[in-house]
Amino acid sequence: MVRVAPSILSVDRDEMDSAVQIVSASGADFIHIDVMDGKFVSNTTDGVFMFKSAYMNSVLPLDVHLMVENPRIVIEDYLQASSITFHIESVSSIHEAKEIIDFLHEHNIRAGVAIKPDTDIGVIKELLSSVDQVIVMTVEPGYGGQKLMPECLEKVKEIRNLEPNLEIEVDGGVNLENAAMVRESGASIIVVGTAFFQSKDKSEAVLIVRG
Ligand code: DX5
Ligand code: ZN
Repeated sequence: MVRVAPSILSVDRDEMDSAVQIVSASGADFIHIDVMDGKFVSNTTDGVFMFKSAYMNSVLPLDVHLMVENPRIVIEDYLQASSITFHIESVSSIHEAKEIIDFLHEHNIRAGVAIKPDTDIGVIKELLSSVDQVIVMTVEPGYGGQKLMPECLEKVKEIRNLEPNLEIEVDGGVNLENAAMVRESGASIIVVGTAFFQSKDKSEAVLIVRG
């Protein structure tokens, strides 16, 4: 069954606690927390603030998405996360990626690797047997509210063919209209930011995305 991870990226600071409670009450499966350092992506978020609000106001597992230059260092602020996913484009070698994955596993955190729209899956192929999940970005990382890039779903299909049981998370531009196409490509976790918070009935939105 597809699981749903609302992203709280677009939530204003003074509404964060109530937004986390809304996500928790919606029947969603995770809270997706986007950490941005203004270097790996041009946008900056206060990831620790978002993470603490989610940790204090929800029992949902926290799915941390690192869009930062030094994921190994930034990870230290998120050790209570259920899963932490770093971008393969933010590390200098497969060896460094494997060190991060090992560190996360030593801390009982599910390890994920993410790829940008123009990164081919060949770059992460040898990590697929080590990670717990892959995030396939369907927008250029950095901002919510962008349009889903359907060509990226070809990579979801490719990974699904290689790894029938691996968690594949699709992140960016998913809404109630294109969620079925995302599910059919083989996604097992779907991130929704704008589409979730713009929907009148959050529980219904979760059910529609879950399919
Ligand atoms: C973008 C983030 C996404 C984003 C999703 O860089 O990684 O998680 O918040 O928001 P929507 O669903 O609005 O694209
Ligand atoms: Zn994200």
